[in-house]
Amino acid sequence: MKSSEGKTPGESAVETRYLVMPTQANPQGTAFGGAIVGWIDMTAAMAAQRHCGREVVTAGIDSLIFRQPIRIGDHVILKAAVNYVSRSSMEVGVQVIREDPYSGRQALATTAHLTIVALDENKRPVAVSPVSPQTPEEKRRHENARLRVRARKERLKAIDQENQPWRE
Ligand SMILES: CC(C)(COP(=O)(O)OP(=O)(O)OC[C@H]1O[C@@H](n2cnc3c(N)ncnc32)[C@H](O)[C@@H]1OP(=O)(O)O)[C@@H](O)C(=O)NCCC(=O)NCCS
Repeated sequence: MKSSEGKTPGESAVETRYLVMPTQANPQGTAFGGAIVGWIDMTAAMAAQRHCGREVVTAGIDSLIFRQPIRIGDHVILKAAVNYVSRSSMEVGVQVIREDPYSGRQALATTAHLTIVALDENKRPVAVSPVSPQTPEEKRRHENARLRVRARKERLKAIDQENQPWRE
């Protein structure tokens, strides 16, 4: 830990790799969006768990962009890092990179921001330590995430009002 404020994004970051199998593809022979989202969700949750040391759940996924298709047989590399901590929620950024296993050529295929919430022993949201960005890149991501978190909370209020009849 680099400071008394909390872990750095690098200390909880997760990088993992899969090989895209035919069962994970759509009829066009490229990775099914739902499979990609599943990998993203799992990688983000692991980064959040490593940051807060608690059970976590995914509250939302934003700015999910499928930039390039990923083919059967490609390697997918997932990189997840905690960008920002609000109170109980962490914004985790995930990059999905596709790699041709023969040439080694890489391209950014999918990106997303996830809100992952830490839970206490009673499965209720619980405050977590802030994240402590160190590098200029981490600081830039932290500041951008801070602005997104503010906008997201405003948007959620409006969505909640529309869904009022469903609230318990
Ligand atoms: C996520 C969940 C625990 C939030 O519970 P809640 O009673 O609404 O709690 P709160 O209103 O106190 O919100 C807790 C935090 O989550 C954030 N949050 C809640 N819903 C959110 C959403 N849809 N998107 C982004 N953030 C959200 C709040 O802003 C708050 O953040 P903060 O503490 O950092 O300020 C609850 O909605 C839940 O269990 N959802 C289902 C999760 C799930 O099944 N995920 C799929 C499998 S992992």
